[in-house]
Amino acid sequence: MLLLNGPNLGILGKREPEIYGTDTLADIERAVGEEVADRGWRVVARQHDCEGEMIRTIQDSYETVGAIVNPGALMIAGWSLRDALANYPRPWLEVHLSNVWARESFRHESVLAPLASGVIVGLGALGYRLAARALVATVP
Ligand code: DQA
Repeated sequence: MLLLNGPNLGILGKREPEIYGTDTLADIERAVGEEVADRGWRVVARQHDCEGEMIRTIQDSYETVGAIVNPGALMIAGWSLRDALANYPRPWLEVHLSNVWARESFRHESVLAPLASGVIVGLGALGYRLAARALVATVP
């Protein structure tokens, strides 16, 4: 399965820990791996600070069973990322560590969410584990 994280998520642990927590991206990738191991899935974990690189990863991942995507601020206006996800042939979930609805109003819009199978916000790193469980439970 694909675990795709967008801009500024590579510095988790050091990035505004009062908002995003102290888990590093490596911790999160390990946690997702644990959740899907019994299903026999391997996690392809990628983090990109550029929208184009995220798009390329999605285009290269059509063989994955499903995806967890934290697009970071690209949720707000990542129209090219949206188009890439529209052509991703498998279920995917949008995850945000913070509760974007409790934050600045510019974070209240996601152009991606209408395409997602589900969205998890505000549960910190646990959100990724729950998203992984959701994929395990719903992907045939
Ligand atoms: C985020 C929320 C976004 O608004 C922000 O731009 C991020 C992180 C989250 O995981 O809470 O980069 O996606």
